[in-house]
Amino acid sequence: MEIIRARDYDHMSRQAANILSAQVILHPDSVLGLATGSTPIGTYRQLIKWYEKGDLDFRRVRTVNLDEYVGLGAEHEQSYAHFMRVNFFDHINIDVKNTNIPNGMNMDEEEECARYNGVIRGLGGVDLQLLGLGPNGHIGFNEPADSFTKGTHKVALAEATIRANKRFFESEADVPRFAYTMGILDIMQAERVVMVVSGEAKAEIVKEAFFGPVTPRVPASILQLHKNFTLVADEAALSKSY
Ligand code: GLP
Repeated sequence: MEIIRARDYDHMSRQAANILSAQVILHPDSVLGLATGSTPIGTYRQLIKWYEKGDLDFRRVRTVNLDEYVGLGAEHEQSYAHFMRVNFFDHINIDVKNTNIPNGMNMDEEEECARYNGVIRGLGGVDLQLLGLGPNGHIGFNEPADSFTKGTHKVALAEATIRANKRFFESEADVPRFAYTMGILDIMQAERVVMVVSGEAKAEIVKEAFFGPVTPRVPASILQLHKNFTLVADEAALSKSY
């Protein structure tokens, strides 16, 4: 595990964007695993800037997103499909046909999970997976549990996640209770994993996840065992670790 200690959010975003752009420049047909949440927004902004300067070309890039709320269609403002368009895809030359995200409107859980697992397999797996960190240590929507999950599955969101994500909805009652998410094994099988974390509010969970024991109670802790994992965190997020 490698740790890049950034000065602040902007520096963290630039450092993470550097790693992603190197991947795209060296391997223009890369499969990028992408994440939502507020933390990666700065990374996407930086990549957009470099694309606008002519330094990056996404024409051949393929993407798989980690997760989607069950019950929200791609047009819903809080869906992750919408998030990805507004924060990234609409601003670069990616082919939408090359972007993948679980379909939150497919109520047939078995069918949707099998479909998405097939998408990931069909792409030959993920070359570089970008991650944020949930306040309870979740990655994607893999919540604290008794064991680590494998492939795409439907999850009931933890109370902590519903509370954390209610800021994006009119009220807590509007936050979806279920999501589809790629599993921990999918994430662990990515060739490279990069996580962005910022701010003091994440300092305690960063310490637990990366300076404590590996346990499914803190899902992100398993990344300590990944062969090529880089944590890009700012000083505030690392303030309780060292
Ligand atoms: C959501 C997403 C996660 C993300 C987390 C943290 O729950 N499913 O993928 O990492 O939020 O979000 P933020 O970066 O806003 O703290």
